[in-house]
Amino acid sequence: MVKYCLHYNQELVEVERIAVYLFQICKEPAPYKGILNSESDFNVSDDLQINQLFNKMQKRIPKVTFTHMDNTTSATKSRAILLNPKNEYCKGDPLTVQLNMYDFLGNRKEYGGDFLRAKIYSPGLNASASGRIEDLSNGTYLVHFNLFWEGLVEVSVLLMHPSEGVAALWRARNEGYENIIYTGMFTTATETIYRKCGFHLDTMDDVCEYRDQRDKEYFFCIKPPNFPCEALTHMNSVNSNHTYFSDVEERLFNRSNIGVEIPNSFQPIRVSGCNKKDTAVQEKCKIRTRFPFPGGYFLHNIWYPLGCNMHPFKTGEQITNCLQGKKVFLIGDSTLRQFIKHFTETLNIMKYFNHTENELQSWQKTLVAINMDKNIFVQWKKHSLPFVSKTFYSVKDDAYAARQIDQIGGGQNTILVVTLGQHLRPFPFSIFIKRAINIRRAIERLFHRSPDTTVIIKEENARDMDIDMERFSDFHGYVQYVILKEIFRDLNVGFVDALDMTIAYASNAIHPPLEVLENLISMCLTYFC
Ligand SMILES: *[C@@H]1O[C@H](CO)[C@@H](O)[C@H](O)[C@H]1NC(C)=O
Ligand SMILES: *[C@@H]1O[C@H](CO)[C@@H](O)[C@H](O)[C@H]1NC(C)=O
Ligand SMILES: *[C@@H]1O[C@H](CO)[C@@H](O)[C@H](O)[C@H]1NC(C)=O
Ligand SMILES: *[C@@H]1O[C@H](CO)[C@@H](O)[C@H](O)[C@H]1NC(C)=O
Ligand SMILES: *[C@@H]1O[C@H](CO)[C@@H](O)[C@H](O)[C@H]1NC(C)=O
Ligand SMILES: *[C@@H]1O[C@H](CO)[C@@H](O)[C@H](O)[C@H]1NC(C)=O
Repeated sequence: MVKYCLHYNQELVEVERIAVYLFQICKEPAPYKGILNSESDFNVSDDLQINQLFNKMQKRIPKVTFTHMDNTTSATKSRAILLNPKNEYCKGDPLTVQLNMYDFLGNRKEYGGDFLRAKIYSPGLNASASGRIEDLSNGTYLVHFNLFWEGLVEVSVLLMHPSEGVAALWRARNEGYENIIYTGMFTTATETIYRKCGFHLDTMDDVCEYRDQRDKEYFFCIKPPNFPCEALTHMNSVNSNHTYFSDVEERLFNRSNIGVEIPNSFQPIRVSGCNKKDTAVQEKCKIRTRFPFPGGYFLHNIWYPLGCNMHPFKTGEQITNCLQGKKVFLIGDSTLRQFIKHFTETLNIMKYFNHTENELQSWQKTLVAINMDKNIFVQWKKHSLPFVSKTFYSVKDDAYAARQIDQIGGGQNTILVVTLGQHLRPFPFSIFIKRAINIRRAIERLFHRSPDTTVIIKEENARDMDIDMERFSDFHGYVQYVILKEIFRDLNVGFVDALDMTIAYASNAIHPPLEVLENLISMCLTYFC
């Protein structure tokens, strides 16, 4: 068997237990004589960078061990109280809610780390905003809201996972590669054969290696006899029956324990204008704008970012005027595919270039849409492996996002929107970090050749609550969200904070509804037009 081994810094392995997770696929230096073992290719700084980012997140993970459900945080036993209540609230005032957390036995929790989600909202106004959670690390939390609009405002705080669940999710995710089982389809003119694929294969059989040496990306398939590795044409995946959770941990992730409301001890809050003047006219949001969290709010289903203006790009006319003469490259997953579908299938402002290759394709196929009158070109392409999908998809013209970006000429009439995350959730965090760093480098290269290209990072959105939490929990998405912001912070890219919007909107769906999608698109195009 050919064995792949990541290089690592021995010291780090010894001092940081977590490094064992990172590099657990290689217990001892492997005898593999491939390119990665050659001295010249040994890039310590890459691994150090991945390690540092990993450890940064690791420090924020609660260190708890538990043995019984009774000792875990209970949403219904916990309480949300209004801090320093006032008789009158004015638009623009801060509002702070204190959370006192208890376990199922009614004992006060004495440590933090719970994964919480907070919003204020006024249903009659279609208004809402996320809250920022401050963990005091002793079972008490402060939730910071801003009263952005006038009206009757309600508060909602959900316990997504208790800290015991957070610790289990993090540990499980970094423990190995058993969550998803990939199957590769190898095809020749006369024969089709299926073999197991993945980031790590425990096998004595011959293995096909699919590597990107420059970016240190890798994926493997068991090699079918008498087929060249190049005969791999399609891939699919299923969730395995494997779990890294113990029986007691598993109970934490029963649907009944996910996203449970923490009871309020107060009434909705009446917010008045208080004769305050509306603030001065703001500039439109620029690429370099960095938003706090929350970074805006919904009012009448329109997103108002803080400190700058978003322009509406809701109608077909508004969008075609913006995109006239432009090329748009969307690289990512089905949440970004919603953009091109919106332009073609909902607004009808462009037509698909219809691929009619006579072969097995599924929704993951590359989409191209064109408006000939206005010279608009839009392309969506998947970010490549790992892609989680029961249906087989073609990998014939696949390339990692970084390689796809390398193929874009760029320039003032090019917009690149990248999203990464939903399909990375079931895999060790180091894989996500490496992928994000590779994309960052590709964007830096793009800026060298075409500095005036518009590049936008669409952060991943919150999703459904009735899913397999071990693999797809929003907590996995949250750590990715945090590290992605960090990795791209100082680049000349714009952020579209889909997490902030979907928490505020409480869309709770992998594909946010039209009202949210319109605002995601408006935010993207505001940076450009
Ligand atoms: C945890 O729960 C068990 C079972 O209800 C209880 O006996 C024990 O005292 C609790 N432990 C702590 C540290 O609260
Ligand atoms: C809120 O938005 C929904 C979805 O667009 C719409 O159906 C509903 O009428 C709106 N409600 C109010 C009070 O504006
Ligand atoms: C939790 O910590 C905060 C800040 O240190 C402190 O003010 C508060 O009294 C503590 N609460 C409890 C219940 O220990
Ligand atoms: C998981 O278990 C079920 C029930 O035993 C079985 O039908 C299914 O094929 C298994 N899935 C995998 C991926 O092994
Ligand atoms: C799991 O959740 C379901 C419904 O959400 C509930 O009926 C069931 O009692 C829960 N099971 C456990 C072990 O808590
Ligand atoms: C694309 O081509 C297929 C097969 O010719 C056809 O069924 C389908 O309607 C076409 N789709 C569009 C959007 O033109």
